[in-house]
Amino acid sequence: MNGIKIRGTGRGVPEQTVCNAEIAGRVDTSDEWITSRTGIRLRHHSREGESFLSMTASAARRALENAGVGPEEIGACIVATLSADTLVPSAACLLQRELGLPEDILCFDLNAACSGFLFALHTMECLLNAAPRKYGLIVGAEQLSRLINWEDRGTCILFGDGAGAAVVESREGFPTISAVMGCHGNDALLHVPGAETGGRSLISMEGTKVFKFAVEAVPWCIRQVLDKAGKTMDDVDFFVLHQANARIMDLAVRRCRIPPEKCYQNIGEYGNTSAASIPLVLSELHEQGKIGPGSRVLAVGFGGGLTWGGCLIEFA
Ligand code: UT7
Repeated sequence: MNGIKIRGTGRGVPEQTVCNAEIAGRVDTSDEWITSRTGIRLRHHSREGESFLSMTASAARRALENAGVGPEEIGACIVATLSADTLVPSAACLLQRELGLPEDILCFDLNAACSGFLFALHTMECLLNAAPRKYGLIVGAEQLSRLINWEDRGTCILFGDGAGAAVVESREGFPTISAVMGCHGNDALLHVPGAETGGRSLISMEGTKVFKFAVEAVPWCIRQVLDKAGKTMDDVDFFVLHQANARIMDLAVRRCRIPPEKCYQNIGEYGNTSAASIPLVLSELHEQGKIGPGSRVLAVGFGGGLTWGGCLIEFA
């Protein structure tokens, strides 16, 4: 099977930021509690009328430009999300029209909650082996501000909006991403109702239990991916973990003996953006020149489902 490498990245984020003090003016919490328990200082929330599609399209356009790839060269498009504007049409179909992607390609949304971007990357690697063109477009995008339960101070402090995109290239001789992914069906710990309610969908989560799951899952995924790829910790330039809580990342850094400077965090500025969190980190690292051609990134996601996933991504 041909492997894939990332050629370009981009992001699109709503302009409006909401700081902890503003949240504390709305619910019974404090900047001190939020910062010390989560690492979050700010999150971006879309303004009324700012659409999911415009955020997603701006991330995708930047990734295409950064990769030097035209829309007509795309062979498949996946949007990883749980918060798109509509169930039908999918966000990926709307993006196909917006960007003028070819019509002979698979465009679909994928929901694996916070593991969504990595599930999409693995799916894309398989898909491109049979696609009409060698480039794939993947966007992780969320407007979680629309799903926040403002009656629940345990969750309303966490979530933000944003979109991160990657253009990948499939080629013979590229290594596979050594994906290790899975899920065990659990609807109690993290739940966002769909059609079942007939009303509004709001996020509910048993945070402490999800925290325990995450601190087990992250080191396990790191070990499994390295074993599968036949690599060691030293072969990895950056570890990019789902930005759910700085304490989860700090624990993983200690348990796996990752040099802290190799684990980039931007949770302070974005909060938890679910499927967007990993590509937002990738696009910042890429833009800052910290990763580029030849770099290897070990990414790990975990979240609702419960789902988990890890893979080793190289940059072209
Ligand atoms: O992205 C998908 C995956 N998601 C995650 O990985 C999230 C994992 N979980 C977490 O990040 C953490 O569990 C949270 C940040 C959600 C919560 O932190 P915690 O340390 O697990 O807090 P807790 O829920 O155990 O609550 C501890 C105390 C409680 O008070 P008592 O009962 O000890 O008096 C809560 O009522 O903190 C209280 N509390 C708050 N206090 C001030 C809960 N939320 C708040 C708040 N402000 N916002």
